Amino acid sequence: MDKYLIEGGPRLAGTVRASGAKNSALKLMAAAVMAEDACLIHNVPDIMDVRIMMDVLAYIGMGVTFSGGDLEITPATAPRLEAPYHLVQKMRAAVEVLGPLIARHGRARVAMPGGCNIGARQVDMHMKGLALMGARMGVSHGYIEAEADGLSGTHLYLDFASMGATENIMMAAVLADGVTVVENAAKEPEIADLAAFLSGMGARIEGAGTSTIEIEGSRTLSGVEHTVIGDRIEVGTLLLAAAITRGEVLVEGADPGHLEIFIEKMREAGCEMRADGRGISVSVPREVTGVEISTLPYPGFPTDLQPQTLAVLATAQGTSFITENIFDNRFMVVDELNRLGASIKTNDHHAIVRGVPRLSGAPVSATDLRAGAALVLAGLSAEGTTEVYDIGHIDRGYERFEEKLASLGAKIERVPSEA
Ligand code: UD1
Repeated sequence: MDKYLIEGGPRLAGTVRASGAKNSALKLMAAAVMAEDACLIHNVPDIMDVRIMMDVLAYIGMGVTFSGGDLEITPATAPRLEAPYHLVQKMRAAVEVLGPLIARHGRARVAMPGGCNIGARQVDMHMKGLALMGARMGVSHGYIEAEADGLSGTHLYLDFASMGATENIMMAAVLADGVTVVENAAKEPEIADLAAFLSGMGARIEGAGTSTIEIEGSRTLSGVEHTVIGDRIEVGTLLLAAAITRGEVLVEGADPGHLEIFIEKMREAGCEMRADGRGISVSVPREVTGVEISTLPYPGFPTDLQPQTLAVLATAQGTSFITENIFDNRFMVVDELNRLGASIKTNDHHAIVRGVPRLSGAPVSATDLRAGAALVLAGLSAEGTTEVYDIGHIDRGYERFEEKLASLGAKIERVPSEA
């Protein structure tokens, strides 16, 4: 994998544009499996995960063309109703084709997603929901196997407001017979974006973005043209990059309504935040101060911004307390941040961060996407040179990350892995 070489120090300044949301684009691509004709999706980020989802769709037999952020997906003539291990293993979100394949074709075989660097991530709720709609679900030889002679609407409660389960069930329900009600549904903006996409295909959905979603099944779905919402996690990451360098940056393409708690926490930490029609800007006039943060399902503080926030708080004045409530192994970045001179202790799902005046550059390794971004942020503020290895993890979810940071004045360079 390539690595980044970062010279810490420059205060980031200027304007940068956020890309389309990874966690929306991937689901819209899965939903396109159900369309009778072509779907055209705009503002799709050119990132590894999108490329892997393109491979999944191509494996199924769909036509996929991607250029300049525009993704066109055409139906398969003789679909292969499978998401194979070699693709699901690279990207868990491939499991999102499960609901669409059963709903549209009555059968699906999807590799069971394995462990993941940020902790165990089950699919039991996805399977339970589809079973309640009448699908015969089983697991055999490492594959989820599902069959149905038509799905029927149901009323179900999720034990936890899982994004993936909400999406898989919502997608299957749009082609089920009758009405499906999902209670304790996930409320993320990407769920509302998926519902808007499905509605454009002719689905009838109410309440997406709230904890109760009601879906009235349709017989067929047409193609649709849709623009992906901005990536709130990328927006947050860029704002935190500005904060860790005590800079001043405007991120365009950001919807402030998607980041309310994050913006409040940044203010509490001493950052000046402004949100208007152009986007969200941050300016750090003085020092950043320690805060308490607990990650929670949306609209709570996003777990996907926790590692990057940890990096910023590592250089804050005073002590910060972080509680991670979504994933059981999301403090892997701590050892690497401590190699850069941070003072962070963890106990189970809590972290105590004692701010230090300055981090010091060192070689470190990205263990996953957001941990990788956190290490880049740390490197931007560290004294001397930081080498971030294994940046393939970062390429999964950030479009032109180093280019965007460099446009704000960061000294960051990609070094290709030795041939
Ligand atoms: C999505 C996002 C990810 C984000 C996460 C939480 C995508 C591609 N990924 O992941 O970036 O960090 O939401 O906001 O959109 N769980 C179960 N059983 C299930 C499903 C989930 O126990 O059937 C548990 C998981 O193990 C995890 C928690 O629920 O601890 C949250 O998972 P979920 O919301 O489903 O996350 P993803 O959809 O995988």
